[in-house]
Amino acid sequence: MSDRFPPIITGQDRLLHGGDYNPDQWQAHPAAIDEDFRLMPVAGVNIVSVAVFGWARLEPEEGRYAFGWLDEIMDRVAAMGGTVALASPSAARPPWLAKRYRETSRIDRNGRRESYDGRHNHCYSSPVMRARIAAVTGALAERYAAHPALGLWHISNEYGGECFCEYCQAAWWRYLEERYGAIDRLNAAWWADFWGHRFSAWDEITPGDGTLDAQKLDWSRFVTDRTVDFMQHEIAAVRRFSDKPVTSNFMGTFPMLDYRRFAPHIDVIANDWYPAYNVDRDLPTQAAHQGFVHDLMRGLKGGQPWLLMESTPSTTNWQAVGKLKRPGQHRLEGLQAVAHGSDSVMYFQWRKGRGGAEKMHGGVIDHAGGSDARVFREVAALGADLARLGGVRGLPVDARIALVYDWETRWTHEQNMGPARQSPYEQVCVEFYRAAWRRNLPVDVIGRDDPLDGYQVVLAPMLNLVTPALVERVRAFVEAGGSFCTTFLSGMVDECATCHPGGWPGGGLREVLGILVEEHDVLYPDDEQVLEGVGDLAGRYPVQQHCDLFHCQGAEILARYGAQFYAGAPAASVHRVGEGRAYYLGARSAACADALVAAVAAGHDLAAPMPAEDGVSVRRRSGDGVDYAFLLNWTTGTRRAEPGPGWVDAEDGTPVAAALDLGPLASRVLRRG
Ligand code: GAL
Repeated sequence: MSDRFPPIITGQDRLLHGGDYNPDQWQAHPAAIDEDFRLMPVAGVNIVSVAVFGWARLEPEEGRYAFGWLDEIMDRVAAMGGTVALASPSAARPPWLAKRYRETSRIDRNGRRESYDGRHNHCYSSPVMRARIAAVTGALAERYAAHPALGLWHISNEYGGECFCEYCQAAWWRYLEERYGAIDRLNAAWWADFWGHRFSAWDEITPGDGTLDAQKLDWSRFVTDRTVDFMQHEIAAVRRFSDKPVTSNFMGTFPMLDYRRFAPHIDVIANDWYPAYNVDRDLPTQAAHQGFVHDLMRGLKGGQPWLLMESTPSTTNWQAVGKLKRPGQHRLEGLQAVAHGSDSVMYFQWRKGRGGAEKMHGGVIDHAGGSDARVFREVAALGADLARLGGVRGLPVDARIALVYDWETRWTHEQNMGPARQSPYEQVCVEFYRAAWRRNLPVDVIGRDDPLDGYQVVLAPMLNLVTPALVERVRAFVEAGGSFCTTFLSGMVDECATCHPGGWPGGGLREVLGILVEEHDVLYPDDEQVLEGVGDLAGRYPVQQHCDLFHCQGAEILARYGAQFYAGAPAASVHRVGEGRAYYLGARSAACADALVAAVAAGHDLAAPMPAEDGVSVRRRSGDGVDYAFLLNWTTGTRRAEPGPGWVDAEDGTPVAAALDLGPLASRVLRRG
């Protein structure tokens, strides 16, 4: 059996390169469209996402379709040997639809009907909205099902938002009734006697109320559920005529939607990723964060290759600082996505529009037009490189470390009024991830319910929401010889955001970790705190923000606090259970997390695929007897990597020296076998 996953799009046995293409904005400028089709092959474009915001052009008035312009685009893409990711156009309703059918506009939390504004402004429950989107999507599917350019369905675009209209409220009550069966079961599960919120009927449960944490958590689940339901409705319209694969593009760790619940309903995961250079000015720090997001995408469908559906070819227009990519950085970032399991590099967008809110956003073709531009040249060069790297397509990434990133856990941290206003959940996950990333140890980012078999190390920072069933799986993993690491603010609540009785971490996790948390302290940014580690954690590590005060009940101490009134108290521990170990890091300390991951990985003999200097990321995709190594230098200096013997350059087949120097932001792909 082959290790290689089949092509995402039947017949497209190559890496995909292209992006959003909006010819609907250029209908009055046919010369620009001619120029597009002259330049796409020059840039190595083989896929375009079309009609993402095309509804107003496709259905200029209710029931009257105008497909002529799209016919021409589909034919021209087919003629150039490319493929189309054709959108169901729900991301932007035509204004006539919003005006004629007021119910298709969302109602806000305060009961006000929202005006037609921007995009993604429609209700997911409105029967009219559902009927209209099914009609236009069905018409598209019927017309293009057999078209040679059709490769993939791009369902909507970056779903998001919530609606509080009567239809959505009714769906909310149905959702709760299905989940709890009887109102008193909900009252008990939600601890509804708090502030006298005990309900006597489903329709008393207002969607916007944030008094009960359980209510907030279930509302978030419901918003995901509604959105998935709408997406399934769109997919059903496609499926009446077409069996081509479907996807919907995500937004990384977008906090509002639990993408794990979307994954089973689509054929391939797609992500839009725009690095925030203004946040992480240090490139390797940024690179680790984007590695985390890429691995999250790969994990959403059990390791299956995914699509980088959007990225910017140069800059964005919506970040605080719209930084340009440095020479070489474009290839570096594109190859990084591929190294982490993407089978594509795609952009927003092919050609900059002349007007509208995104006229300043980077595009492959700028306002000056033509191919004589740095951005175009870098894009075209990457297109040629990806064509030479077609052998990577479909190959898996193998990881022995799993990191749990879980949307419901995130919600319990962010929605509960707790020890600090802002939860660092995502940052702490990335701190643990970065510890493995900088040692070139591959990581799968998995969900709370994903299987743990096959991993040697499971990192589960801030694992707040635990159930006895989850803890049983963790216990079995540790007993069998695995290392499990969790941190402060873990195991506080059950799936209704209600505290576990008997102290933290609850649900049985306390026994696995051999500790009992008594209190939790939060530091001001200038408060002093330090961890003093022993044994494998020997050293001093600065602490930020969070400190659990806990007792060991069977666990051994690995670090103690060095300051505040609890100086000398345990701060990190390890508990031997069966053949394995359960680690607890009681404080937020990126430095100590780094040391802990290093020690645990070393304990399992996990090592980098090759020696490389700091700032060089080495990733592999291998299978069927062939091994690709991506060497990515995220620094602006020259860095050395030592692949050792037996490798060739994957792009030109020439032998590679056992040690090589990578210039600033340089990237190489090597092949063996
Ligand atoms: C994405 C979106 C695109 C475009 C892009 C700009 O989030 O899907 O349509 O707006 O951002 O960065």
